[in-house]
Amino acid sequence: MLKIKELTKKFDSLVAVNRVSLDCKKGETLTVLGPSGCGKTTLLRLVAGFEKPDQGEILLNGEVVSQPNKIIAPNKRDLGMIFQDLALWPHMTVEQNIEFSLRSKRMNKTERKKEVKEILEKINLEGFEKRYPNKLSGGEQQRVALARSLVSKPKLLLMDEPLSSLDSILKGELIQLLTSLKDQLELTMVYVTHDQEEAKSVADRIAVMNCGRIEQVGTLEEIRSDPTNKLVKDFLNIHTKPRSFRLEG
Ligand SMILES: Nc1ncnc2c1ncn2[C@@H]1O[C@H](COP(=O)(O)OP(=O)(O)O)[C@@H](O)[C@H]1O
Ligand SMILES: [Mg+2]
Repeated sequence: MLKIKELTKKFDSLVAVNRVSLDCKKGETLTVLGPSGCGKTTLLRLVAGFEKPDQGEILLNGEVVSQPNKIIAPNKRDLGMIFQDLALWPHMTVEQNIEFSLRSKRMNKTERKKEVKEILEKINLEGFEKRYPNKLSGGEQQRVALARSLVSKPKLLLMDEPLSSLDSILKGELIQLLTSLKDQLELTMVYVTHDQEEAKSVADRIAVMNCGRIEQVGTLEEIRSDPTNKLVKDFLNIHTKPRSFRLEG
């Protein structure tokens, strides 16, 4: 589905993304976990097509979409995106916000309404169609943003710390919702976060990132049983048991 090969992005002398190679299979949730400033957002922006790489390439379903001298526009990539800043349109109702994502699809008004209604049901927001974003709680706004990114049935969903502004109860609820939607809609996701609990609860595989590089990729079990270095251990809170030893003689 998604293949990232030896991707590098520099901002002047700062190497924000440093020879990153990763892939994400259909139906998989890959989380990228790393401290603030390690290059997570830059990596997602590269995948989305908002940034051009200095080296390396990105493929979506076998098609090259990013190379230093070639870039396919974000709206031609069939992606859903939720970034830290939700950016719901304040002057549009919930329904209009979601419907906006369907504007490029060849659908008539009735079809669009039907799609919007369906996604609102899935996301437990029936009856919210006519509300404006400023009349919604933080968690509800987050769900509208999710609905908006899912309604066009993108082949890949990119999420940049989507829950960072929510309290832990809401976070838990949204993670549950996301997990059930993932199965229902067979979503493929790249989910970026600095929060290890979030990463662990949504991920099929985790990529631990630091200073622009991927330190290790694997399932939580794989990483737990064989963390490559101290940073990975610390970041995933892995406590290796002290070796038991026998006194001889
Ligand atoms: N447009 C930009 N211009 C210059 N530096 C940038 C730009 N975007 C990001 N950076 C720098 O790249 C590094 C990685 O940033 P970012 O990808 O936002 O990290 P994260 O999302 O992991 O917090 C940071 O040092 C940041 O200051
Ligand atoms: Mg970021």
